[in-house]
Amino acid sequence: MRITTLFVVATVIALGGCDVKDQAPATAVSSAIAPILTSPDAVDTASFAKPLIARVTHVALDLDVDFQSKRVGGTATLDIERKPDAKEIILDDDGLEIASITDGAGGALAYKVGAGRPDMGAPLIIALKPDTKRIVVDYRSAPDGGALQWLSPDQTVGKKQPYLFSQGQSIFNRSWIPTQDSPGIRQTWAATIRVPAPLTAVMSAPRAAEPATVNGQRVFRFAMDKPVAPYLIAIAVGDLQFRSLGKNTGVWTEPAMLDAAAAELSDTQKMVDEAERLFGPYRWGRYDLLVLPPSFPYGGMENPTLTFLTPSFIAGDKSLVSLVAHELAHSWSGNLATNATWADGWLNEGMTTYAERRIVEVLYGPKVTAQQISLGLDAMNKAVAENGGPSGPDTRLRPELGTRHPDDVSSEIAYEKGSAMLRLIEQNVGRERFDAWFRHWFEVNAFKPVTTAMFLTDIRQNLINNDKALEAKLRLEDWLYKPGVPANLIPADPTAFADVDKSLATFVAGRAPDAAAWARFNTDERLRFLTHLPRALPADRLAALDHSLALGRSGNMEVRFAWLELAVANRFDPAVPGLEQFLGAIGRGKFVKPLYKALMADPWGRPIAERSYARSHSLYHSSVDRELKTYGLKS
Ligand code: BES
Ligand code: ZN
Repeated sequence: MRITTLFVVATVIALGGCDVKDQAPATAVSSAIAPILTSPDAVDTASFAKPLIARVTHVALDLDVDFQSKRVGGTATLDIERKPDAKEIILDDDGLEIASITDGAGGALAYKVGAGRPDMGAPLIIALKPDTKRIVVDYRSAPDGGALQWLSPDQTVGKKQPYLFSQGQSIFNRSWIPTQDSPGIRQTWAATIRVPAPLTAVMSAPRAAEPATVNGQRVFRFAMDKPVAPYLIAIAVGDLQFRSLGKNTGVWTEPAMLDAAAAELSDTQKMVDEAERLFGPYRWGRYDLLVLPPSFPYGGMENPTLTFLTPSFIAGDKSLVSLVAHELAHSWSGNLATNATWADGWLNEGMTTYAERRIVEVLYGPKVTAQQISLGLDAMNKAVAENGGPSGPDTRLRPELGTRHPDDVSSEIAYEKGSAMLRLIEQNVGRERFDAWFRHWFEVNAFKPVTTAMFLTDIRQNLINNDKALEAKLRLEDWLYKPGVPANLIPADPTAFADVDKSLATFVAGRAPDAAAWARFNTDERLRFLTHLPRALPADRLAALDHSLALGRSGNMEVRFAWLELAVANRFDPAVPGLEQFLGAIGRGKFVKPLYKALMADPWGRPIAERSYARSHSLYHSSVDRELKTYGLKS
C-alpha cells in the first residue's frame, strides 16, 4: 500500500514538472499534464511507447506535401515530459525515413529503430540527455502504405488535381508522424503545411493563420490547443472549396460535389445544437465536414473540428445522415473522453452509437430511431455469429487484443452491444437521470483517457448507488466482461418494420415483389427488406426483384450493397456487371471487404474478384487493402 502510494506520487511529480505547465496553452493546462493512467488495464499493446518514463505532450509539424514522390517531409518538433533520470524516449514509427534527430538546441541525439511487429511498425528509440525537453525529428514518410493515400487526378471527382488524405485510427498515424501513437497519450499539436499551388490543405484543427503563397507553394497553418489522442490528427489536400452550413458548421469538398454535399448536410447545424442540449457544451469550436473522394475507407471519421466523410453518404434524400450524427457524437464520446487503449474501443463506438440515436430521435423521430436500433441489433447478432457465437471471446465488450492489430478485432459488437447496454441502463434508471449521468461523464472525463473499469465504477457510484436490486437487474459485469449478449437485452420494437414484414411475407409466399410498397419505403425499410429475404433465392426470383425494384440501379449505396451481397450469395450472373462497377467506384471497407470476401470464398466469384481487384486496387486505402490481401487477393 505504502509502496504503491509512493510510486504514484513519484510518477505524478516526475511527469508534471512545472516547466511543462508553463508552456502549455492556458485552456488545456490541467488536461495536457493529466498523468498517464497507471492501471494494468490501460497498457496499450499496440504502441511501443513507455509514457511513464517519457512522453510527448506537444507535436509541431513543419511539412512539405510532395505529390511527385508521394511523401510528406520536413520536421516534427516534440515537447516531452520525462522522469529526471529517463535515458530514452520511445516513439512509434512505421517506415519513416529519418535524416537526423536533434534536441531543441541543435545537438544531435542518438537513435535507433528497434525490432518491429507485423502491421505495427517499430519502436523509434531516442537517447535523451539529462536536460533534453524537446526533440526535432527531420524525416519523410515512405511512399506506400500507412495512413496516407495519394490519389491521381482521375481518382478524384474533378479529375484535374491530385489529392491526399490521411486515416489515423487506429494505429496508422505512425506512418507519417513520429510520435507516441497511443490513444491514452494526449498531445496538443500545430502544423505548418506547404502544398503546391493552387491546392488547399485542411486539418483536424482550427487554422492558425490565413493561407499565404510563397514560391509557388501555398502555406497553411493549424493549431490544436486541446490535447487530443494522436490518431485524431488528420490532413487532406486537394482542390477544395468551403460552404457554410450554419453558425459554426460548414462543408469542404471538391467544387463539383459542393452543391450535393451541402444539400445532403443541411441538417448539420441543427444536429450540433441538439447534441449540445443532450450531451453538454460542444468544446471544439467549429464542426466542419470534409466529403472525400470514393477511396475514403470509412463511412465517416470523427477527426476533431473536421469530420471526414465518404461521398457514398450522398443519397439525395438525406437518408444516410445518421452517419453525421454518429461522427458528431464522437465529439463527446471518443474525442473528449477517449478509450485509453483499443481494447476499450466500445467506450468510443458503443457510447457514440447510443448518442447518435439520441440525436436521430430528436431530428427524425422515434420511429426512425426504432428502425435503426432494430437494424443495429441484427448487425450485432450477425457479429456474434461471425465471432464464434455466444461464447466467442471477441464478443466481449472488452476483448483481449494480445498482439493483434486493433482493427482486426473492432466489430459491430463494440457499436451495438455497447449501445444496447447503455439503452438498458437508460430504461432502468429513467432518461432524466441517465442524461444527467451522461453529461457528467463527459464533464469529468473531458480530454482524458477512460477505461471500462472507470465506467463501471462511475455508473455504480452515480447511478446504482448501492441499489442491490438494480445492480442485479442490470448485470453490468456480464455485459462488459462476458461473451455473448445477456438475456436482459431490450429487444427490437417488433412493430418498427411492420409494413416491410408484410411485404416480405407476400414475396416469400411466391407473389411478385410489391413495387408500390417499395416506392413508399424509406432507406432503413429497404435495408430491412433486403437483409430479411431468404438468403438462398433462385435466379428467377432475384431477376423479379431486380426488375421491379431497380435494385442494381439504386442511387443509394447502402441499398445497392445489400442487393449485391444477396446477388453474390446466389451466384446471380446478371448482377456481375453492376458488381464490378460498384467495386471500381467505392473504396469504403464496409462495402468492399464483405463482397470480396464472399467472392473469394466461391470458385464462381474468384475470377470476378481477381479481375475487379486488378483493375481497382489503387482505389483502396491501405487499411482496406491489408484485409483484402488476407482473402488471397494479389496486386
Ligand atoms: N471511428 C469510426 C471509424 C473507424 C473505426 C476507423 C475503427 C478505424 C477503426 C467511425 O466513427 C465509424 O464508426 N464509422 C462508421 C459509421 C457509423 C455510422 C457506424 C463507418 O465508417 O461505417
Ligand atoms: Zn464511430
